[in-house]
Amino acid sequence: MVELENPLARVTRSAALIRHIDPGTGDCIADIGCGPGRVTIPLARALSDGGEVIALDVQAEMLTKIASKAEQNGLTNIRLLLCDAREPNLQDGSLDAAVMVMALGEIPDAKRVFPAIHAALRDDGKLLVCESVFDPHYVSRGKVVDMATAAGFVESSYQGNRFAYSIVLQKSPKLSGNMRRQHAARPKKLLSEPQHACGRPK
Ligand SMILES: C[S@@+](CC[C@H](N)C(=O)[O-])C[C@H]1O[C@@H](n2cnc3c(N)ncnc32)[C@H](O)[C@@H]1O
Repeated sequence: MVELENPLARVTRSAALIRHIDPGTGDCIADIGCGPGRVTIPLARALSDGGEVIALDVQAEMLTKIASKAEQNGLTNIRLLLCDAREPNLQDGSLDAAVMVMALGEIPDAKRVFPAIHAALRDDGKLLVCESVFDPHYVSRGKVVDMATAAGFVESSYQGNRFAYSIVLQKSPKLSGNMRRQHAARPKKLLSEPQHACGRPK
């Protein structure tokens, strides 16, 4: 089911999400909790003019599925990253944007994801979070905004209704001193490849 677009929740469809995050030419965008690539593949197509998608998931079999779909579609701009979103193996400031689509509710102690993504984004980077009540692990907009705000994000746009929504959260220039200390104190565990940086200078 996770590979199919939901006809009842238009806002969760990959095309709607890509319009909402509005990628720029050459952007490097992480798909956090990418699953089998429902969003990753169209996002990579949208970024095929010099941009790149980092497909991040904690399950190796999801990344294997994406590798095979990328090959079938002739896409060479997807990097696979096997790691936990709470301790992502991403270089600070290396992402232009990130998307996290119906993944948050599956992550224990999910509030830890937000400071980690905040650190990986460039200063004016943005994070799109999408949730739908059709997903058993649904997380409400209020909870997402609370966790994101505590990590230093500011909500910049919202689309949706009571069944499904996507919000874009803008990285504000600085984490508070307290949040920065908390994030720096956590050890970064290497689960797969060496720390990832996008391939091209900005
Ligand atoms: C419901 S699927 C969503 C897949 C995709 N984003 C979509 O909308 O089609 C949730 C994904 O989150 C991943 N996930 C769960 N916990 C995770 C964690 N701690 N770190 C990274 N990914 C995680 C799961 O492995 C799964 O592939």
